[in-house]
Amino acid sequence: MTEPLVLARDDGAIRSLVVNRADKLNALNAATLDALAAAFDAAITDADVRAIVLTGAGSKAFVAGADIAEMRGLSPLQARDFAQRGQALMRKIETAPKPVIAKVNGFALGGGLELAMACHLRIAADSARLGQPEVNLGMIPGFGGSQRLLRLTGRAAALELCLLGALIPAERAFQLGIVNRVVAAAELDAETAKLAAQLASSAPLALRGVLDAIIQGGEMGLAEALQFETAQFALLFSSDDMREGTGAFIEKRKAHFVGK
Ligand code: COA
Repeated sequence: MTEPLVLARDDGAIRSLVVNRADKLNALNAATLDALAAAFDAAITDADVRAIVLTGAGSKAFVAGADIAEMRGLSPLQARDFAQRGQALMRKIETAPKPVIAKVNGFALGGGLELAMACHLRIAADSARLGQPEVNLGMIPGFGGSQRLLRLTGRAAALELCLLGALIPAERAFQLGIVNRVVAAAELDAETAKLAAQLASSAPLALRGVLDAIIQGGEMGLAEALQFETAQFALLFSSDDMREGTGAFIEKRKAHFVGK
């Protein structure tokens, strides 16, 4: 029996997804993009899942890029389809209504960094290396990397990373605002589990409100975005969780959120 390209495992309300092509440093071929899309669809629609953690199999790589061997044979029209498939996956993750954490356990290169950047939070091992090395292959990022990197870091760093194609250590990626946290490699699993547990016990509708306000609102002009934030803010006043959170504060007890 062949191994699945994406492994899924639940720990309470946390769904862990693992890109499972360790022998190819988890490179994203078309089949892996499809398997990831299906895995995210399942995690998003499962109401019991309240946080998602994405990582790569093995100890070396998160994802070392789109699959170079597969891409090499593509015609321009096939390349367009491949890029659209990747872009659609990244957008699915970015607009997911529950938080997605990228656990960057090793190389996050090209499509791998693009995948990590589509997640809502990135926690990296201090041994990880990140980069957009597509120019070294005569290409450019094709899964949204030029735009997400630009928005995370600003123009200077985005141009430097994409023009020079160099791999940078996790600590430098932290300084540039690409990753949220860097931890010792030995601590990565435990620190990610803590982060995911906090998100999984938080108020799901409020988390969704934050994601919508920042991800979708961030793509609007300011006046429209402020109105959008107001609408999200007001909507939460219909939720049991808002009553529970404010009630727990007043009663000096821990809140228990159910996502209603
Ligand atoms: N696409 C397809 N296969 C890849 C890959 C990719 N993006 N990255 C790694 N692999 C494969 C290698 O071809 C090799 O396969 P093989 O054993 O069948 O020859 C296997 O994964 C292990 O990689 P290898 O290069 O031997 O490991 P390394 O430790 O010497 O080097 C890297 C690690 C990450 C520096 C190197 O693999 C690399 O530069 N990969 C490509 C990075 C890249 O340009 N990504 C952007 C693509 S858009």
